[in-house]
Amino acid sequence: MTAWRAVQRGFATAVVDPDPGGGAAQVAAGMLAAVTELHYGEQTLLGLNLASARRYPDFAAELTELTGHDLGYRRCGTLAVALDADDRAHLRELHDLQRASGLESEWLSGRECRRLEPMLAPGVRGGLRVDGDHQIDPRRLAAALVAACERAGVVLHRAWAERLTVRGGRAAGCVLRDGTELGAGQVVLAAGSRSGQLAGVPDEVLPPVRPVKGQVLRLTVPKRYAPFLSRTVRAMVRGSHVYLVPRVSGELVVGATSEELGWDTTVTAGGVYELLRDAHELVPGITELPLTETRAGLRPGSPDNAPLLGPTELDGLLLATGHYRNGVLLTPVTGDAMAHVLTTGELPDEARPFTPRRFAAALMEQPA
Ligand code: GLY
Repeated sequence: MTAWRAVQRGFATAVVDPDPGGGAAQVAAGMLAAVTELHYGEQTLLGLNLASARRYPDFAAELTELTGHDLGYRRCGTLAVALDADDRAHLRELHDLQRASGLESEWLSGRECRRLEPMLAPGVRGGLRVDGDHQIDPRRLAAALVAACERAGVVLHRAWAERLTVRGGRAAGCVLRDGTELGAGQVVLAAGSRSGQLAGVPDEVLPPVRPVKGQVLRLTVPKRYAPFLSRTVRAMVRGSHVYLVPRVSGELVVGATSEELGWDTTVTAGGVYELLRDAHELVPGITELPLTETRAGLRPGSPDNAPLLGPTELDGLLLATGHYRNGVLLTPVTGDAMAHVLTTGELPDEARPFTPRRFAAALMEQPA
């Protein structure tokens, strides 16, 4: 996204990636869930999430018009439901927080939830209807962005970046695994959960990004069962998030575990079992559906769950990483913010709180 916006601004732009668009975007469900994924203490991030959600209609239309790709962008809304008294209390608190934040969210009884989504379990105790939380298909989105980059003249190096080049105290490009050297006036490190691993980046500017594993299932809704669900349905079941994201194509994405296991991307029996168990409690009819794919990906987690955007203390090195649970949602605002900072040297107002320098400042404030 950053490369596409950069080339549109007139920068000669190259991307180094062994498989552009092939990382977490291939696993993510693609919920654009600024309101239903709101958490206490994350109101600043909410501002950025909402700014990005507002850009989605124009961004999706622009990308589709340029590439001809259908992105699976679906303004279907989301229903967050509760299955027991604890889940219900949690959802009530979320509703209070949403209203205090000025967000649109309507409390529904269990019966009203089932009227909207008849496949829901009879035990559903209530829910929140959020018509503003939508979805996109991240695989289609990634393919369209690669196509848009190629059309606009971005040079794609389908290779690993081995090391950042630093010359005269500033980032000057990178070296590929085959030894090829690329020079650049500005380098954007946007390597998702691997962003803290690039050799040559000085320790003090290395982004504090860690992998947070998510296992995700894909089921298929046969035509005779459609419409199985008409919107995203999600819940907290015994303290874990589970969501079901129905695509027009018939794909039903069920996610996701959240595991701090380093670089492990194994799909485990336990992960699949827990997702199916929780999804089945919400929507018992899923047991009839073919299970077509199981996969695990790595979210790029940051210390405050918010992204790192913009310049670092090393001249010429910028970051666009640490998007954690919101990478797909934050795509348009990230591209715009990065294009702005590449052009002017300054982050736009809405992205300023996400400067990587906030972590450097926090380190310096720690007592010795
Ligand atoms: N935003 C959904 C997830 O991270 O699982």
